[in-house]
Amino acid sequence: MSGSTYGYLVAFASATGGLLFGYEIGVIGQVLSLDTFAYDFKAMELPLRKNEKGFVKNSTYTSLNQWSTFIFLAGCALGAIMVSYLADSLGRKRTILASGLLFLIGAAGQTFAPVGDAIFTFFYGGRFIGGLGIGMASMCVPLYISETAPTAIRGRMITIQQLMITIGILVAAIVNAVIISVMEPEDGFSAETLVSGDKSHEWRYALSAQMVPAAFLVVIMFFMPESPRWLAMKDRNEEALTTLAKLQSLATTDSSIQTEYKDILDDVQTERAIGNGSWGELFSPGIARRTFITFFLQLFQQWTGINVIFYYGPQILQNMGLSKKVAQVQGSITNNVVNFLSTFPGMYFVESFGRRSLFIYGGIAMFVSQFIMTACLTIGNQKDTVLNIIALISVCTFTLGFGSTWGPCAWVYQSEVFPLRVRAKGTGLATFSNWANGALVSYLNPIILDAIPNQLFAVYGCMDVLATIFAYTFVPETAGKSLEDMEEIFGSTDSSLTGASLEAQKK
Ligand code: BGC
Repeated sequence: MSGSTYGYLVAFASATGGLLFGYEIGVIGQVLSLDTFAYDFKAMELPLRKNEKGFVKNSTYTSLNQWSTFIFLAGCALGAIMVSYLADSLGRKRTILASGLLFLIGAAGQTFAPVGDAIFTFFYGGRFIGGLGIGMASMCVPLYISETAPTAIRGRMITIQQLMITIGILVAAIVNAVIISVMEPEDGFSAETLVSGDKSHEWRYALSAQMVPAAFLVVIMFFMPESPRWLAMKDRNEEALTTLAKLQSLATTDSSIQTEYKDILDDVQTERAIGNGSWGELFSPGIARRTFITFFLQLFQQWTGINVIFYYGPQILQNMGLSKKVAQVQGSITNNVVNFLSTFPGMYFVESFGRRSLFIYGGIAMFVSQFIMTACLTIGNQKDTVLNIIALISVCTFTLGFGSTWGPCAWVYQSEVFPLRVRAKGTGLATFSNWANGALVSYLNPIILDAIPNQLFAVYGCMDVLATIFAYTFVPETAGKSLEDMEEIFGSTDSSLTGASLEAQKK
């Protein structure tokens, strides 16, 4: 069974939430590095003076960097936990719509923060509210897609969210490059221009661009259908049936629709008899294993160091001897393009190879690349062009490894393994793990970088070795199974039924 055009439209429309997620990840580092931004936030030493790194910054600059990231990630983590209540009570569709609205409010707060005393309140408040929206969308979009997609291509449909994340990151880099090249002179702004304040809108343009997809998400979600599984959970069975048929462009009387509809209703009945869908149930026998696996998949996803590559990639390439411009423009844009393109093999192989194999092969590709990067940095001959090329290639193979496997698959896996009654809570907890670990990595990374600058990636390489072993040992295959079939794979409380032993049983 393949997806209908309408089914794909629904997946792409909701995955605009992923675009916001990606844009936000991509834009903030760049905005923080703009002189116009630092000046408006009083993060520069006065009187203004330049050294070889540009205008000299004061201590506000460091705290601005730390708090901007931290407040946003805290909002995301809170949003991810809170969202399960909304997704279960309001429904999946309205929750995505609400997340778009929150994001819009947050983006407006940041964009229009008035210069003066209130600037920090507006900016940090905006980051927190925007974070809530992103945290909610990052959990609810893949959940919604998983519940509206046909089984055979469910994984592929969920990877659309990852595709949109990578597009968001790339668009942010391009928008910023365009703004800088149009607005800034070759050697940056002069002190006089900054003081006159007439270029203050430079950073506002970069932040305002995210309001367009956010508004689009809010409007388009009005026209999208509700998840048939959620409708059945609320006893709105007629609507569940018509939505199911519409999503696959088939008649309600079609035999495959009737079978799926019956499976959903049976599932709702059985689940009501089994449990009440409380948080405690996530740790009950039969479910605890899924909670454990999805939590750790998201933990390892962040500890691959992918965001470190995005934030520090250009700086690291520069340390290896590439010029500033090559490192910042070619290095980072190339890596963003690789990140985007790598989602396509992921989309294809997630159904044919399956999730489990992708986790294992992706883990291997990432740790091999990171150990090669470490070797290049440790040898560190800045004039050696061959070494520089190897380093650049290994950054790209790492991103390729991530973007085609752990990037999309951690989201796919968490959205499909939980039974309906605890699906929103289970995916909420796993999403919380993604954001909380993202925050931990961003907090600890500067400390590790300071202590062992050239061996930084060996730390993440070791985490990738653990991630690969984890996937091999604990993660069973879920490709091709309907959401209602997951009990077969996970329902057993027999702890010996690990990923590896399930695979052996299959053979
Ligand atoms: C991760 C993000 C990461 C992005 C990169 C997502 O799956 O959760 O942390 O920045 O992929 O494409």
